[in-house]
Amino acid sequence: MRRKVIAGNWKMNMLPNEAIEYIQAFEPMVKDAEAEVILCVPYVDLFYCLMNAQGTNIKIGAQNMHFAENGAYTGEVSPKMLKSIGVEYVIIGHSERRAYYGETDETVNKKIKAAFENELKPIVCVGESLEEREAGKTEEIITNQTRLALDGLTKEQVKGTIIAYEPIWAIGTGKTATSEDANNSIKAIRSEIAKIYGEDVSEEVIIQYGGSVKSSNAKELFETSDIDGGLVGGASLKPEEFSKIVKYNG
Ligand code: 13P
Repeated sequence: MRRKVIAGNWKMNMLPNEAIEYIQAFEPMVKDAEAEVILCVPYVDLFYCLMNAQGTNIKIGAQNMHFAENGAYTGEVSPKMLKSIGVEYVIIGHSERRAYYGETDETVNKKIKAAFENELKPIVCVGESLEEREAGKTEEIITNQTRLALDGLTKEQVKGTIIAYEPIWAIGTGKTATSEDANNSIKAIRSEIAKIYGEDVSEEVIIQYGGSVKSSNAKELFETSDIDGGLVGGASLKPEEFSKIVKYNG
């Protein structure tokens, strides 16, 4: 049985003092949670969050990184830098980065490889736009993105990758994919992985759903056959609301 992994993506929100207060409030709420709990926070919050989450079941992740180890890349942060302060996870290829910052399937693939080289665990985002969905291309888009993202990885690395299926039209819009729809898309991603890497691998890969997840819809989504948790934006900004999502099963 795959474990459930529920990650918050704070995006560009939360000052360091707010982040510290958040973790102090959130920690007692989720200390008995069955699901794995991750907070992906802005760079400036990372160190404070790592310090405050030490000795708890809350894991800390970044929201992006460069693929190079170091160099003349003004404004960028390397995987080695993240690793050096104790970061465990990193979101790669979020649709906002693909849409606004030129992230491509190729850079996503490079970043995933760099993450593994630095012992960081990647949370890789894939998802279709509304236009693509309406043109009936959802499956084609998400299986393509998955194949290109994972290209050249070993079976073990694929097993260690978390994929987040985030339909773009559902992000921050209040529109959630129905649990059946989301589950079917995730099944399609899983069978694409099975085709390339074998069923033993596809059965182990954690695939999350993201897009307007909240406490009122988390249970229905996470109790489907193939959705292994969520990547949560807006609803992860309030400790109480996010703790309810983490403890969706009671
Ligand atoms: P919302 O939960 O705010 O829709 O955002 C989803 C998301 O983009 C998480 O990465």
